[in-house]
Amino acid sequence: MVDVGQITKLAEKEIKRSVSLDVLSKLEIKYLGRNGEINKLLSAIKNIPDEQKKTYGQRVNKLKASMYRYIETRKKELQNKKSGVFFDKTLPGKTYPKGSLHIVSFAIEEITKVFEKIGFIRVSYPEVDWEYGAFESLNMPVNHPARDDVETSFIDMPAHPKLGKMVLTPHTSNGQNREMKRVGKPPIRMINISKCYRPNWDATHTPMFHQFEGLCVDKDISIVNLKGTLDYFAEKYFGVGTKTRLRPHHFQFTEPSFEVDISCNNCGGTGIIKANRCKVCKSGWLELGGTGMVHPNVLREGGIDPSASSGWAFGFGIERVIMMKYGLDDIRNYYSGDIRFLEQF
Ligand code: PHE
Repeated sequence: MVDVGQITKLAEKEIKRSVSLDVLSKLEIKYLGRNGEINKLLSAIKNIPDEQKKTYGQRVNKLKASMYRYIETRKKELQNKKSGVFFDKTLPGKTYPKGSLHIVSFAIEEITKVFEKIGFIRVSYPEVDWEYGAFESLNMPVNHPARDDVETSFIDMPAHPKLGKMVLTPHTSNGQNREMKRVGKPPIRMINISKCYRPNWDATHTPMFHQFEGLCVDKDISIVNLKGTLDYFAEKYFGVGTKTRLRPHHFQFTEPSFEVDISCNNCGGTGIIKANRCKVCKSGWLELGGTGMVHPNVLREGGIDPSASSGWAFGFGIERVIMMKYGLDDIRNYYSGDIRFLEQF
């Protein structure tokens, strides 16, 4: 005898699991169609003993009713899910917002390329270093007042017997001694890009910032080479026609030392726009950073004979050159995470 209960269970399972409206309509035919299971059950009634015919008929009719219910419910579910609906492969896909490099990362790429073109090697030295790297190796002995020129954050841990305390590097100049020792002997052409730390927070300073440090050491290197390299960088990074000038300054690790200015592109280096003072530079020039000829003591400390070789170095702020290039007025925006600011670049 046909087991109505078993067919009910099987049908319910199949209908609930149907994955598309297509599959569901096939099941509808299979169970409720003219030659479907329900009709087969109904026509089998002739073989049922008379006294059981009534209950049997009731059960099959009940099954038929639930079958309609199962199918209706599943149909609605599938329609809501939109599965089984015609899928148009030719429709354009969803577009998601595109990411891009952060302006600082982008500037690092650009600056690296400019210097790699003229044979400089990009390196990245520790941003947590011993006092030796940040000061002593740069002609700033222990207790020298020049150490106070750069406010430094010390790491809270025991000092090294020879190398001193650990510091968050206040400049990328700690790379000079490391690079001289790494390369061993001239020629050296380094571009060291790293994070630096100084406890300042205003429109032109963030406590963490980036510097790029150039170092060139070889036979007969002079200020002429330095000026030529600075002019090359200024034209490549800020645009054709940008000029540089050197102003006397003091650093312990260079002699002579200078500050570098570049001509302002907003006013063409004149300091005046339509008879008014240029708001970007006020004087026609913008201050880029420090430079100079590497001090003989620094060369010696790096294992290089100052009587045979000479060199120059510079250290410029990445956040600062971006500011100068795009005429931005608040570098805190770089790190605000505000996408409206960042996506402009
Ligand atoms: N280290 C100096 C600074 O941070 C910049 C500098 C680098 C000056 C190399 C001269 C030579 O201000």
